[in-house]
Amino acid sequence: MTTSSTTRKRMYALAVVPGDGIGPEVTDCALGVLDKAQELFGFSTERELIQAGAQHYLATGELFAGAIEESLRGKDAILFGSMGDPSVTPGILERGFILAMRQAFEQAVNLRPVRLYPGVKTPIADLSPERCDMVFVRENTEGAYVGRGSTVHAGTKNAVAVQESVNTRAGVERVIDYAFRLADSRRKKLTLCHKTNILVEAGKLWTETMADMAKRYPEVETDYVHVDAMCFHLPVSPERFDVVVTDNLFGDIITDLGAVIQGGMGVAASANLNLDGSAPSMFEAIHGSAPDIAGKGLANPAGAVLSLAMCLAHLGEIEAAHAVETAVVHVLGSMEGLAGPEMGGTTSEVGERITAALSGVAAGSMPLLAGRSIMEGMAASSSN
Ligand code: IPM
Ligand code: MG
Repeated sequence: MTTSSTTRKRMYALAVVPGDGIGPEVTDCALGVLDKAQELFGFSTERELIQAGAQHYLATGELFAGAIEESLRGKDAILFGSMGDPSVTPGILERGFILAMRQAFEQAVNLRPVRLYPGVKTPIADLSPERCDMVFVRENTEGAYVGRGSTVHAGTKNAVAVQESVNTRAGVERVIDYAFRLADSRRKKLTLCHKTNILVEAGKLWTETMADMAKRYPEVETDYVHVDAMCFHLPVSPERFDVVVTDNLFGDIITDLGAVIQGGMGVAASANLNLDGSAPSMFEAIHGSAPDIAGKGLANPAGAVLSLAMCLAHLGEIEAAHAVETAVVHVLGSMEGLAGPEMGGTTSEVGERITAALSGVAAGSMPLLAGRSIMEGMAASSSN
């Protein structure tokens, strides 16, 4: 433990939002790992369980805005399960809760590491961990996700639907600046991913901002890849990427592809970061609520536990974060397959294995994951 970490506050107020579908079961695993991490690394948390999601919405009509927003606002961080259920019209919970939170709390960056961990199976033949270690910095509050647009003559042959993508210089600049800082702490390569040949207005803003910011980071090499070409390069030559910065919608799409490359949706984690400390950041696995497998013990909790690790890194508990990440990798490496019965245990059993592995890591009987961890990168690029 460094001097700074012993002198700073090590008690954190967390909100826990298990949500719908597989959210509660994977969140339970993350909380079990958190209990063990606290015991081993000497910090503590005060947790408030927030009831939200489909059942809550159907019973009360409540989404994010109002009482829930207020109880979340005062927290140091939010652990989020997932949201969405067939009983609620698609989009209501996604927009009314997830997007509303990202926007209200200015969680400007959606940080999504895509790292093939040693021993973890990938559907990409011959891909080795050395060739796959990158981080996506997805703009998280603007673009097509602002929900602006209109429809006239709806339901007729003359229907006109307009869907706007809003890109502000300030919004673009803050994510590009974060991406440069992150790249500077890693392999010093930043790629802008967009579709500037077609989306010329937004494309110009992103390109100009990238060029302006590049002057402040002369050590970082920059390049540009169209989003369609990204879908080709990612599975074939992921080694060409270190940090990739991109718009909200493109980031949503390409990080699902990234998740597959690193072993599947069950293992991908994310951090929704508020960059100025004005509101809490939120941590969630990138998989959705998967209602078809909910409650069956078939979900892989790794994405949720790795999101917890990102949360710990964000709070400054780097040692614990790195140990949790290592424990997850150890357990993933022992699995036949990364989802369902091939995991060799139910969701909660996998969670227990991760918790047990964490004790082994802390006791020094399992080596810490080698290589540059996103957890260190998060600390290095944090401005608060
Ligand atoms: C994600 C999800 C969300 C998004 C949905 C659930 C609103 O797909 O976090 O990637 O589109 O951002
Ligand atoms: Mg998505």
